[in-house]
Amino acid sequence: MYNDDYVETYDLLMRSRGKAYRTQALGVVREIRERLPEAASLLDLGTGTGLHAQFFAEEFDDLVGADISADMMALAAKRVPGMATLRVDARAEIDLGRTFDAISCLWVIPHLESADEFEALIAGLLKHLNPGGVLVIEPWYGPDEFHDGYVAGDRMSKENGGAIVRLSHARRIGAARIEMVVHHAVADPGEGLREFTEQVRLSLFTREQLAACFASAGAVAEHVERDSFAWGLWVARAAA
Ligand SMILES: C[S@@+](CC[C@H](N)C(=O)[O-])C[C@H]1O[C@@H](n2cnc3c(N)ncnc32)[C@H](O)[C@@H]1O
Repeated sequence: MYNDDYVETYDLLMRSRGKAYRTQALGVVREIRERLPEAASLLDLGTGTGLHAQFFAEEFDDLVGADISADMMALAAKRVPGMATLRVDARAEIDLGRTFDAISCLWVIPHLESADEFEALIAGLLKHLNPGGVLVIEPWYGPDEFHDGYVAGDRMSKENGGAIVRLSHARRIGAARIEMVVHHAVADPGEGLREFTEQVRLSLFTREQLAACFASAGAVAEHVERDSFAWGLWVARAAA
């Protein structure tokens, strides 16, 4: 899905923007422990490069990171040596052959194409929770919150003395879909300059849509506002 260049850039970008991974991870752990203090196993779906998982590993001995991208997970496995990794497509039927006390799915749902996919994902994840297990999902922009034509520009320093400049432009391509084009220019001391461009389509869900999907999937879910998550968190529980 993503090439090595993209993975390196994504990881550098998130770290250079100072995203509060530790605070966020501990916030997710708090949501889990408040509901299931003895939770011992966690599946982090859409783990990316393991930036949250490195902190989840301090709390859960039984930690599995899952993602559609093998390249993302290769970096996650390096960062979180004790974590098992699994290649999983959140848009397909999930059957992992085991269950967990908790599942986190952070900043992944915009990659789904429709509310139906979200509902199917929730139903699939509920089947992977132990009784009383906790599901924590981070939402993203709703259709009314997205700024059409949103532009971002970042400059990142590489450990080898190189640099990456990243420019992105996102535009609406439907009432609840956006297309983001991301242009990268990479400079490495030994190799010189190169460029690459990625294009990604993302979905925008309303809070009401997500609430309806949780209900249809048979989940009792609540939306909680939390300082470290701009769009709050959805927390659902499996029946005890
Ligand atoms: C924006 S990153 C978020 C990573 C991390 N959870 C975080 O909060 O920083 C989205 C992640 O979801 C993964 N992803 C996208 N589509 C997916 C799918 N259909 N199934 C599983 N993972 C997916 C991507 O590979 C990427 O690692």
